[in-house]
Amino acid sequence: MSKHDCTVATAAPNFALVKYWGKADDEAMMPAVPSLAITLDGPEIGVRVSVVDGDRDTVTLDGEAVDERWRDRTQSFLDMVRSGTGSSGALSVESTGGVVPAAGLASSAAYFAALSLAVTDLWGLDGDEEAVSDRARRGSVSAARSVPGGYVALDPQEAVDGRLPARTVYPADHWDLAVVVAVVQMGPKDVKSSDGMKRSRETSPYYPEWVRASRDHMTEALEAMKTRDLERLARVAESSCIMMHACAMASDPPVIYMRDGTRELMELVRWMRQQGVGCFYTVDAGPQVKVVCQQEDVERVKEGLDAVSGVRRILVHRPGPGARLVPSHGDS
Ligand code: DP6
Repeated sequence: MSKHDCTVATAAPNFALVKYWGKADDEAMMPAVPSLAITLDGPEIGVRVSVVDGDRDTVTLDGEAVDERWRDRTQSFLDMVRSGTGSSGALSVESTGGVVPAAGLASSAAYFAALSLAVTDLWGLDGDEEAVSDRARRGSVSAARSVPGGYVALDPQEAVDGRLPARTVYPADHWDLAVVVAVVQMGPKDVKSSDGMKRSRETSPYYPEWVRASRDHMTEALEAMKTRDLERLARVAESSCIMMHACAMASDPPVIYMRDGTRELMELVRWMRQQGVGCFYTVDAGPQVKVVCQQEDVERVKEGLDAVSGVRRILVHRPGPGARLVPSHGDS
């Protein structure tokens, strides 16, 4: 057992350049496709888990009770991890920070990564990065990628006995890229990613082709990353993004995350690239646009995005270190 009765961990979102969209096994949270992402240095979410009296876990976000779905997902995650520990005490899970839950800003990835690390420490479980990442995947597949830092892959071909952690393919300093996020709409998305990808698998005629193409995307993106070829990475990342959205849109009923502002920004990013700014876009299960660029081009990209009327907020982040424990007073 751990020496603590309270542990705090932090983690930040990761954004995929080769997208994960679809599970091979819902129960086992096994992705159907490989994905490649950048784990960022922020905005960090902090998760504090403490042992409490009583027989019920409590879950809060910035001091407020969370919605039912968030609570249920947290509860299932805690029950799953707890079942392997012999622990029976109730926990209080308090998270702080993050951006907008369920808005396509990967707050659930950061949350489950931090939660996985926190309960690992609290319950004295195997604390290897791989074990923590594999555990985080059971909460949300993309959360596995927020545990290691830098440029991170999650590839179901690497699963062994149902175990699949994400791994760092290149450390954060391999390539001086930045991610500039243009927030075009606050508030939760209409269709949660888990539901959207399930619907795509069950109804989209493009789903089989999406799964097939993702393997080529992964190979191509890894090669572009190795040689730090931004133009090559731009082409494959935008293609993965467009194919994911095309697959989702062709579902029945359609799953559409892009808004007018999203499309306007995508056009702008392509135009900026033609003007010689090394940048490309990616869009997840929400209307926000994430622009990947060289760190030296951040100001030019920000200026461009800022001029678009629908942009509510701009965030800039760099590749980061992955999930970390926050030492508490009294730790040596
Ligand atoms: C569009 O990891 O949130 O952001 O595994 O069901 O929790 P669950 O889904 P989630 O899906 C993320 C999908 C995506 C693409 C990506 O991050 O690769």
